[in-house]
Amino acid sequence: MRKQIVAANWKMNLTLDEGAELVNEIFKGLPVLSEEKQVVIAPPYLHITQTAAQLTGIIDVHLGAQNCHHEASGAYTGEVSAAMLKSAEVEYVIIGHSERREYFKEDNAMIAKKVNQALINGLKVIFCCGEPLEIRDAGTQNAYVEKQIREGIFHLSEIQLNEVVIAYEPIWAIGTGRTATSAQAQDMHAHIRSVVAAKYEHEAGDNMTILYGGSCKPSNAAELFACPDVDGGLIGGASLKATEFLGIVEAMAFA
Ligand code: 13P
Repeated sequence: MRKQIVAANWKMNLTLDEGAELVNEIFKGLPVLSEEKQVVIAPPYLHITQTAAQLTGIIDVHLGAQNCHHEASGAYTGEVSAAMLKSAEVEYVIIGHSERREYFKEDNAMIAKKVNQALINGLKVIFCCGEPLEIRDAGTQNAYVEKQIREGIFHLSEIQLNEVVIAYEPIWAIGTGRTATSAQAQDMHAHIRSVVAAKYEHEAGDNMTILYGGSCKPSNAAELFACPDVDGGLIGGASLKATEFLGIVEAMAFA
């Protein structure tokens, strides 16, 4: 059975105290999750050691980071390597988020290098893809997302691919309040799964965890997660409030 995940991407929000408080609030309301279901929290780098300490001994909640550098080490002022993340007990790293692609000019080639760094260092990857509005309006979103996936992760072996989760995040739905309909999400997730199945074994497509991201909230999470190819969510704004985030985790718990 493939994994289901609800992952919090805090982006550049919350001070250390606010982050610690939020994690405590999440713990208080966390429902019991069956074995194949996980929560991931990806705070800013500065929070990571604090959050790691809070997560010690908590089985259902896993630690993530929002990015890593594409080289192993060296003179890259201000950057953080995959090895550093691993040494801080990080398990997942988000790579290729649309905000990094857009504001930090990360292209598919750089993203593929980041994926390699993450895997070499024993991290699992949450690989983000998703189209801008003009591509959706032109109806060419399937080809656009397929190219991101081909150039970002299709150089991996099937064994390496086991360590990758895909997050489909249509850019027009991120932080806009405009969620993809469950039909739009399901169509794209089924497409992504078929692309993976065609490149690798059929089983690799079946086993791939594919998350939806973009204005996911408690009021729409249950409907999205009920889609056969939607295996959970990558949550931005709604992950910053414990009640909202827990509402989404509950939707996964009962999906
Ligand atoms: P929102 O949930 O705020 O739309 O953000 C989604 C996202 O970008 C998660 O990575």
